[in-house]
Amino acid sequence: MHDISVNMMKKKKQKRVWHSIVGEPLTEMDKIIMSWESRGKKVPSRDLIKTPEQIEGIRRAGILNTQLLDHVAANIREGISTEDINQMVHTFTVEHGGIPAPLNYEGFPKSVCTSVNEVVCHGIPNEDEILEEGDIINVDVTTILDGYYADASRMFVIGKTTPQKQKLVDVAKECLQIGIEACHPYCFVGDLGNAIAKHAHKNGFSVVRDLCGHGVGNAFHEEPDVEHYGKKGTGMLLVPGMVFTIEPMINMGDWHVFVDEDDGWTVVTEDELPSAQWEHTLLMTETGVEILTY
Ligand code: MF3
Ligand code: CO
Ligand code: CO
Repeated sequence: MHDISVNMMKKKKQKRVWHSIVGEPLTEMDKIIMSWESRGKKVPSRDLIKTPEQIEGIRRAGILNTQLLDHVAANIREGISTEDINQMVHTFTVEHGGIPAPLNYEGFPKSVCTSVNEVVCHGIPNEDEILEEGDIINVDVTTILDGYYADASRMFVIGKTTPQKQKLVDVAKECLQIGIEACHPYCFVGDLGNAIAKHAHKNGFSVVRDLCGHGVGNAFHEEPDVEHYGKKGTGMLLVPGMVFTIEPMINMGDWHVFVDEDDGWTVVTEDELPSAQWEHTLLMTETGVEILTY
């Protein structure tokens, strides 16, 4: 009885997020969204569905963001510092009419996140941090172009690394690919999280739970949260016109992480074993998902 009354209270409080446009007939998409909402699923609000004009803007930001990662790929090497990567990213971005979104974002001090070995994400570039043979590093860039955002990251292996670290980098990339393949119109965020975690676990690795992907495009971080683990059919419904990231962080050891107290940003694995991450910005369409950061 206790459970039932609690449930009823929850239902009363739940507010409808989806409304048809006044005076216009319901579209097929309206009907599908309303039907899932009435069955208690999390559905997007209208502002999460991008207009064709917004999609065009995000697409252009995505192209510049990809050129930027290609520029990093061409220049990253043993012996440079993560601050050198920061300079590279900053200069390239502004020279091409963009703004590096990380700079001053909630106080982040640099134009890019550089996360080496056991650093999971949000590593801060530093002139004393020199890349060495065997390091694995995630470079995460987000570009604002004409007010629109695109967000992507890649791993780079410095020289030759150990077989186990190389496998981690490869499996993390496969996890992103598998997450993308699990996406289809009107799927749920949990469907792709489920596929990603299965692949990581099958390979003996774990999935970071404290950080997730996100809606993106008109701002850096929008709804929904895109968790990289979970149950099928849970999380938000993904419908055509939504733009979001998938960015699985895969750990060699345990999934637990902590934030460096000194800088308030750097996320590190608790067991200090390495971590790897790849990220794309994706557009859901009527037929499937399109990668905007290739
Ligand atoms: N690019 C990161 C992401 O994928 C966010 C970095 S926030 C920053 O969501 F402030 F650290 F840049
Ligand atoms: Co990112
Ligand atoms: Co992101």
